[in-house]
Amino acid sequence: MSEALLEVRHLKKYFPITAGLLNRTVGHVKAVDNISLTIRPGETFGLVGESGSGKSTVGRTILRLHDKTDGEVRFKGISVHDLSKTEMNKLRPQMQLIFQDPYSSLNPRIRIGDAIGEALLDHGLAAKEDIPGYVMEVMESCGLSAYHYNRFPHEFSGGQRQRIGIARALALRPEFIIADEPVSALDVSIQAQIINLFQKLQHTKGLTYLFISHDLSVVEHLCNRIGVMYLGSMMETAPRDELFLRPLHPYTKALLSAIPVPIPKLKRERIVLKGDIPSPANPPSGCKFHTRCPYAVAQCKEETPEFRQAGNDHYVACHLV
Ligand SMILES: Nc1ncnc2c1ncn2[C@@H]1O[C@H](COP(=O)(O)OP(=O)(O)O)[C@@H](O)[C@H]1O
Ligand SMILES: [Mg+2]
Repeated sequence: MSEALLEVRHLKKYFPITAGLLNRTVGHVKAVDNISLTIRPGETFGLVGESGSGKSTVGRTILRLHDKTDGEVRFKGISVHDLSKTEMNKLRPQMQLIFQDPYSSLNPRIRIGDAIGEALLDHGLAAKEDIPGYVMEVMESCGLSAYHYNRFPHEFSGGQRQRIGIARALALRPEFIIADEPVSALDVSIQAQIINLFQKLQHTKGLTYLFISHDLSVVEHLCNRIGVMYLGSMMETAPRDELFLRPLHPYTKALLSAIPVPIPKLKRERIVLKGDIPSPANPPSGCKFHTRCPYAVAQCKEETPEFRQAGNDHYVACHLV
């Protein structure tokens, strides 16, 4: 698909498990195990799944903060993991990461205006004298005031810190942003403000997002398409409304059934999953979800289901569909 901004094909990221004095590799955590997804320019792709399903690892491997184990990541047709170090440094500003806790990445002794501007200097994207004016502009577009420029990180609330995190990423004029649980640590009322900010910035700056959350109700308002991950694998991807109205995978149905619905007519049967998410070091055979699936049959234990098309832009990996 040439229209894609980002194409991920059969991506795998395994972390070695080492043991003993010699640090011998005794196994692998299959954090990302054959994931494919496509993100088109201007769209927001939501990646959801329980904690530990590999969402952050997908994000970090796309940005090449992790080396891949196998597969391919193409950004605007360029194979990200094949770039030289210099080429990668040139590409970096275009793909930015915003994470759950921006405070942890802010130096407590650096004024936030300088923190927002420092990457611009590092990448040689602006002359030193132009930075303060530009940073103030970016701060204002993120709902911060210019007079915050000289303040220190501890002087800000959680919501404002996330605005700083967004401003830092935005200062580099990226085209693509991966937001990894950016509102998960915030109060619900503040979550809505930050989500509105993401939306506003998308419209004014023409951004494309990969929005990661363990909470389907958070991605619902923001995303055009949604992918549901479980234990390193993609279970289902579909346009947002299609996924909410016609979920096909039992895991998606279970996640959806946990969201309270305001309209009783839409009330879904509550599906409670058995047990905990298994270890990605030793995932179940066949369909990885079969140990928790209320509908599993013998085939699910033996054969890995193919990720196949089940509707317009709708893909699912399930034997029962
Ligand atoms: N740097 C790492 N080294 C070893 N294992 C890791 C590393 N990062 C993540 N993992 C493991 O990979 C799996 C997926 O983690 P993660 O991508 O953080 O999931 P999620 O973001 O969906 O919660 C987990 O089992 C986690 O423990
Ligand atoms: Mg995560």
